[in-house]
Amino acid sequence: MSNITSNVRTLYWDRDALVLIDQCALPQRLDYVRCASVAAIADAIRTMVVRGAPAIGIAAAYGVVLAASAAYKTHRDDWQVAVARELDLLRAARPTAVNLAWAIDSMVEQFQRIQGDPSTSLLAHANDLFQADVAANLAMGELGAALLGSANQVITHCNAGALATAGYGTALGVIRSAWKVGKLEHVFATETRPWLQGARLTAWELHADNIPVTLIADSAAAHLMSRGNISWVITGADRVAANGDTANKIGTYSLAVNARAHGVRFMVVAPLSTIDRTTAQGSDIPIEERPGDELLAFHEQRIAAPGVDAYNPVFDTTPAELIDVLVTQKGVVHNPNLESIRQLFETQN
Ligand code: MRU
Repeated sequence: MSNITSNVRTLYWDRDALVLIDQCALPQRLDYVRCASVAAIADAIRTMVVRGAPAIGIAAAYGVVLAASAAYKTHRDDWQVAVARELDLLRAARPTAVNLAWAIDSMVEQFQRIQGDPSTSLLAHANDLFQADVAANLAMGELGAALLGSANQVITHCNAGALATAGYGTALGVIRSAWKVGKLEHVFATETRPWLQGARLTAWELHADNIPVTLIADSAAAHLMSRGNISWVITGADRVAANGDTANKIGTYSLAVNARAHGVRFMVVAPLSTIDRTTAQGSDIPIEERPGDELLAFHEQRIAAPGVDAYNPVFDTTPAELIDVLVTQKGVVHNPNLESIRQLFETQN
């Protein structure tokens, strides 16, 4: 376990398949899963073998490569028609992270330029999306770290690290960059119930990079803010609406409310691929609900009494007013709102 770093290969293409770290098995086992069909990739996204908005998007891009290659073998000139249904299934694998639809759309835009076998050019485009995600994370890491003063103790939620992206991470990218330049003292990682991304993935990633990390129960965050000299909460995002409202892992909203109440600053780190300007506001973002069993049982051991029901929304929406800063690869948006996000997109590089 100890030799895993931010260079961990969350997903990579190997000959004719996408290889994924099985995030359901971490940190007990470092297993890899080989996906040689679009159905296998859709299943890996649905079951959270791969998770985290940017990683889901990149995995889906390789899913389009596999779908198109298979369709070309069986349908030749009609491959674009044949592939459509499979892409609908892929798109529906998880509803909240907009990077999934963004990546599929970006791949489909390439279709019209292709004549003959689509495999090579689609694979090249998926590789470009992969590289662009790593580059965005490195850029956001620097931009976010520059906002921090010295000696920061921060809280992060869920896993927005190398495991949630093509590499380096969004929120954990800022944390990694801050650590490198000596601005970070300590990270408190929320365990992130019920799937425990914080306990299982974030603590593992940071510990492997020798970044000081302490795990806290989600419900300990307000207490820590009141006593713990926390300067920032730093999170990723699954979808940022046009007005800056942000969907992220369940519990993010309550962290933002608590941060505001305690004078702690709140930073969202998200690439442009996570900003969905076609969704007007947070209440329009679809919120995934997962099976109640994630709450009612632990490691297949029933916890709640038989017959008890559970409600398990796995994302929530933080109103833009509670977000002090949105960090993207194109720049930093203070107090995000409709106008400042519009300017971000309309400003030339
Ligand atoms: O359900 P998950 O684990 O896919 O949720 C992930 C998150 O909420 C992350 O914070 C978000 O995708 C940002 S990842 C860079």
